[in-house]
Amino acid sequence: MKIAITGANSSVGLNLLNHIVSATEISVIAGVRSDRAMQSLPSSPQVDPRIISYQDPSKLAAALEGADCIVHLAGILIENKNTSYASANVDATEAVVKAAQLLGAKHMVFISVVGAGKDSSNAYFRSKGLAEELVKKSGLPASIIRTPILLGPNTAGASSLIGAATQAKTKILGGGKYSMRPLDIDDLNQAILNCCNSGSTEAKLYELVGPEPISYRDLIQKAASMMNNKVEIGSVPVAIAKLVAAISSRVKGGGITPTVIDVITMDEVVDSNADGALNITLTPLQDTLKKILEHKKSK
Ligand SMILES: NC(=O)c1ccc[n+]([C@@H]2O[C@H](COP(=O)([O-])OP(=O)(O)OC[C@H]3O[C@@H](n4cnc5c(N)ncnc54)[C@H](OP(=O)(O)O)[C@@H]3O)[C@@H](O)[C@H]2O)c1
Repeated sequence: MKIAITGANSSVGLNLLNHIVSATEISVIAGVRSDRAMQSLPSSPQVDPRIISYQDPSKLAAALEGADCIVHLAGILIENKNTSYASANVDATEAVVKAAQLLGAKHMVFISVVGAGKDSSNAYFRSKGLAEELVKKSGLPASIIRTPILLGPNTAGASSLIGAATQAKTKILGGGKYSMRPLDIDDLNQAILNCCNSGSTEAKLYELVGPEPISYRDLIQKAASMMNNKVEIGSVPVAIAKLVAAISSRVKGGGITPTVIDVITMDEVVDSNADGALNITLTPLQDTLKKILEHKKSK
């Protein structure tokens, strides 16, 4: 099987590439937007790095030609002066859908987020919901996987968690009372590859979350105690954090906004976990934390 990955230099992309290279014989077209991003990709005969652009779907199709399955990972939570939800989450998905149609791709996998919805009042969730609609209505055999916070080497979630858990004192949004369902990135890697191999002929939506709900506060405490650390957790009131974010993001033209704070502090809840449907045995949270802490120690 040959797959093409867009946003291959994203943290999810690098984890997927490393998994593919170390555990499978799959060949990959790894699509990135710059030479700099290309330097971050693992060097392997299985990986064919290519510079791609989302401006012209026919050129994008030419760059992804030969792939049986297209895994679309490009997407952002934090906007900046150079990238927005509209361009990164919606327009890029539209271009990939058109390219996949031109190629007659056998399958497309799109990574979305728990909470996505085209009518959401939150701009991030709305953009991912609109992107889901593009995939659903494309007529392509496709898998849309909504994910929660992802824990794995160098994911933003793991870096923030370890950063907080190694402190003696830390202050977090709302005291970290919100509930999360952290998902091991290795479980997502397996789910993506299972989707590519599924032979499904329609577009399906999956919500794949980790095995246990836990508040962010307890997650930090759990990680800290695994490092034999004791961390005192204080609270930054969410309303104040949003006010500060509104001002600073305006001045900087991006970064943490009230929208991002609403995403971070949302309870990650799903009606039904797709682990069974995706044929995944979920990694226990304790084992996931052990893996990310060991990875951090090895750096
Ligand atoms: N990390 C999580 O916990 C999490 C949770 C739920 C869903 N997801 C989804 O998983 C996917 C990967 O997330 P990640 O955290 O690994 O991402 P990431 O590390 O932040 O990387 C973002 C990727 O998006 C690309 N990108 C940015 N602006 C773009 C634009 N305007 N057009 C096309 N590409 C653009 C970046 O390319 P450049 O380097 O060239 O800018 C990079 O490849 C995203 O779709 C995200 O929504 C992630």
